[in-house]
Amino acid sequence: MKVITAKSAGFCFGVKRAVDTVYEEINRGGKIYTYGEIIHNEEVVKDFESKGVTVLNSREELERLESGTVIIRSHGVSRDIYELIRKKPEIRLVDATCPFVVKIHNIVEEESKAGKEIVVIGDASHPEVQGIIGFSDTPVSVVQTREEAEKFSPSEENGVCVVSQTTFNYSKFKELVEIFTKKGYSINTVNTICSATEQRQTEAREIASQVDVMIVIGGKHSSNTRKLYEICSEECRDTRHIQTLDDLNLGSPESIHCVGITAGASTPNYIIEEVQSYVRGTDF
Ligand code: F3S
Repeated sequence: MKVITAKSAGFCFGVKRAVDTVYEEINRGGKIYTYGEIIHNEEVVKDFESKGVTVLNSREELERLESGTVIIRSHGVSRDIYELIRKKPEIRLVDATCPFVVKIHNIVEEESKAGKEIVVIGDASHPEVQGIIGFSDTPVSVVQTREEAEKFSPSEENGVCVVSQTTFNYSKFKELVEIFTKKGYSINTVNTICSATEQRQTEAREIASQVDVMIVIGGKHSSNTRKLYEICSEECRDTRHIQTLDDLNLGSPESIHCVGITAGASTPNYIIEEVQSYVRGTDF
């Protein structure tokens, strides 16, 4: 019996930084709010709540707020949210936006100022993408599928700048960019997929191809976890998505000789370790 745990499983640099920021602010004291859940992990969010941190779930809730510390999560927010907070002198802004996301905001801001239309390859409903859209002064299209890429035609004549959601699947990104390139538009493509995601996806694929059961740990709403699940399912028919050890039922372990474990960027280490020691300790 073998257990292979991905080295890249768990918190990435940006998420670790955001989570550490919240703990630092808790130690500092005062009333703390996070604009949206700081990461897509119920366990971590519950722990923050027990320490007095309140999640602001909408722009309206932020508008009603008069004082306190507001922490922006690693996904980032659109420019108008910064403007809204700056108008409230009693609110202290702590920005935990991942530097890789800030880089996308800067690219989009500059390129749109230069008149380029923006294409974001990613999921339009994801907060990171909504934040990116909010940095453009020119029209933005969000493209996630081949069909959407085929249908796209620029409305501006100044060219197009293509960026990507940081957690987008790299091979899908290449496929979509190829469709744009074939159309012959003047396109400036910046691959803004974060290497943490790429490494995690590549390692997950490699492990999933060698094991009988592949376990993907991560929040139900975490898009990078769902993508990991998708990739692993292509390689291993018995791929399971769990949030914590409580969700894991290995069924008939006699037929299982090798188990792989990976986890999304929002999964704390202790959950990965719990799953790993449970699987190791299971009597195969
Ligand atoms: Fe940042 Fe990459 Fe994580 S963009 S939040 S380090 S997945």
